[in-house]
Amino acid sequence: MKSWLAAQIAAQLRRPHGWLAPLMGRVMNRGNRTLYSHAIRSLQVGPNAKVLEVGFGNGSHFRQILDLDPTLHLTGIESSAEMLRLAERAFRKEIDKGRIEILSADGDLPSGSFDVALAVNVIYFWQDPHENLAEIRRVLKPGGRFVIGFRPYETLASMPFTRTEFNLRTESDWRERLQVAGFEIEREETVSAAAGELPGLVWTAKPCKV
Ligand SMILES: C[S@@+](CC[C@H](N)C(=O)[O-])C[C@H]1O[C@@H](n2cnc3c(N)ncnc32)[C@H](O)[C@@H]1O
Repeated sequence: MKSWLAAQIAAQLRRPHGWLAPLMGRVMNRGNRTLYSHAIRSLQVGPNAKVLEVGFGNGSHFRQILDLDPTLHLTGIESSAEMLRLAERAFRKEIDKGRIEILSADGDLPSGSFDVALAVNVIYFWQDPHENLAEIRRVLKPGGRFVIGFRPYETLASMPFTRTEFNLRTESDWRERLQVAGFEIEREETVSAAAGELPGLVWTAKPCKV
């Protein structure tokens, strides 16, 4: 792959933008389906759960999350204006009914307000994971959980498009960073590569008691 093309793909994955954004959304939907199914299964929500998703892309999997429980409330935050627009358009009814709230990642979220936070294929774009993890910890309720879906280091490191924009970290590095940020890993799941998809990891972490 030519390096300019790899850099364009990386920039789109980090923050889909411009006329390519809707296409990127669909490409990600296809490639991340299995990882999402496993991550959503790990949410393990009860009645009236407040779920936060960070970096939801075009939100095509929102229905799967809402279907977990009719009383669940979902807040999605995104840094891409195009992805925000696509999700707002697709889920207008659910937004109007108050089941989904879609917000720009620039805004502030109230402390201690979510039962579970979800981030799929987002942590590679965090420049300062301690800051992002501290923010997730802040917005979780006591006893809340953080479900992370991501690709193994070895898989991403072999991809030409991860040479720019991505901050690749090994699994042992993530374990240490989660621990330093005050999280305890409760569960680690390995997701085998389905046809046309990459292998994945789904970890569930919870804030340690202080
Ligand atoms: C590689 S895409 C993954 C999209 C979707 N989660 C998926 O797996 O198909 C990364 C997404 O996270 C968003 N993003 C990156 N950093 C973010 C941040 N700090 N807060 C919120 N969204 C972020 C990007 O705009 C992009 O839509």
